[in-house]
Amino acid sequence: MRRVEELRERTIWKSDPHTQVKHLVYRHYLQCWMGKILQKFPEATIVDAFAGPGVYTDGPPGSPVVVARTFLDHTAYQRFGRLNLLCLEERPDRVEELRRQFAKLPPSPQLNISVQPPGTFAERQPQLSALAHCGRAETPVLWLIDPFSLKSAPFSLIRQCLAGPRDEVLFTLFTNELHRFCQREHFDKTMTPYFGGDHWQSATAERRAGARKEAFATAYQQGLQSQGLFTGSFGVKISNQSARYHLILATHNEAGLKCWAPVTWKLDGYSGQGASADTADAPSLFDEALVVDRLDVALRAHAGTAQRWETLSSQAARLNHMDKHLRQVLDKLAAQGLAFRVDPVRARTAWPEGCTVRFYAPEDVADESS
Ligand SMILES: C[S@@+](CC[C@H](N)C(=O)[O-])C[C@H]1O[C@@H](n2cnc3c(N)ncnc32)[C@H](O)[C@@H]1O
Repeated sequence: MRRVEELRERTIWKSDPHTQVKHLVYRHYLQCWMGKILQKFPEATIVDAFAGPGVYTDGPPGSPVVVARTFLDHTAYQRFGRLNLLCLEERPDRVEELRRQFAKLPPSPQLNISVQPPGTFAERQPQLSALAHCGRAETPVLWLIDPFSLKSAPFSLIRQCLAGPRDEVLFTLFTNELHRFCQREHFDKTMTPYFGGDHWQSATAERRAGARKEAFATAYQQGLQSQGLFTGSFGVKISNQSARYHLILATHNEAGLKCWAPVTWKLDGYSGQGASADTADAPSLFDEALVVDRLDVALRAHAGTAQRWETLSSQAARLNHMDKHLRQVLDKLAAQGLAFRVDPVRARTAWPEGCTVRFYAPEDVADESS
């Protein structure tokens, strides 16, 4: 049976390497998100809006079970507030299977699982949102949006999921389909609602598959940024092929990016931008040679000014880098005389939180006598 038929006709289907990478991203992100959110707030919600049946024929758990297991196995679990896990799935047979899978988990008073009656995301989003926020707009809600097709998650619905001040979305962007079909006649009628505008068109100028897929991911992120949101992206690939799809994070809070950057660097120690399905779990060969060029360029642009650590750390996060990368680049610049810690004068480490760094241009350090 072909895979498309398997997905259409069977209740459960076989997993694939891309799914494993996607679930690794989920697990790492959830580890961090739960650690931060559930120790700060008494209650939070994760909505798995395209939940699936909760298991694959070859054994791995589906995303709703991945979420529940990450919660139950978390090292800080005892200190957590309550997590509501709301699941929506269109097909009755998959809903039934999902309920069976959840019944196998140990019960926990802190984990409130609710599998909704079968229904479609577009119809149920307002109801899900009301349930997820528990009567308070400020309740943190993480939406997992992982459909099978472009049409079931247009940008207008994604925006609705981000209406609350602590709403976040982790979205599967179909960059392979976008790349293949973007120039087909009438496909713009699908693309424009998917992106919430026609800014996707800039990506079509790219000829190479990989570059065009990245350009679609960037365009989608720009649409989110224009709404004042912070975003991250990660390409899910097989081996040296270009990405099949991208996972896009949208968050109101920069702290969300601080969880996202370590995830992407853990899965892709070379650039932090995309993992191959066959290497995602392997230890990185490149840890010693992290690609931090973007950050290097950004920091050099501060020449002639003094910057506070918070500003630099925030800039690093927006470029999908962690504080450890910031310190690496500062070390490199300091060795060339281009960065100096001016405050505090005495410290146990070179770049402590709260420090102030003054930047210089290469001309400032050139030896005029030579
Ligand atoms: C990609 S699969 C989800 C896989 C799951 N998130 C995981 O990672 O294990 C998409 C699921 O969404 C369901 N679905 C398709 N259209 C839907 C819609 N409009 N609303 C809700 N569920 C839908 C499909 O039946 C399918 O089970």
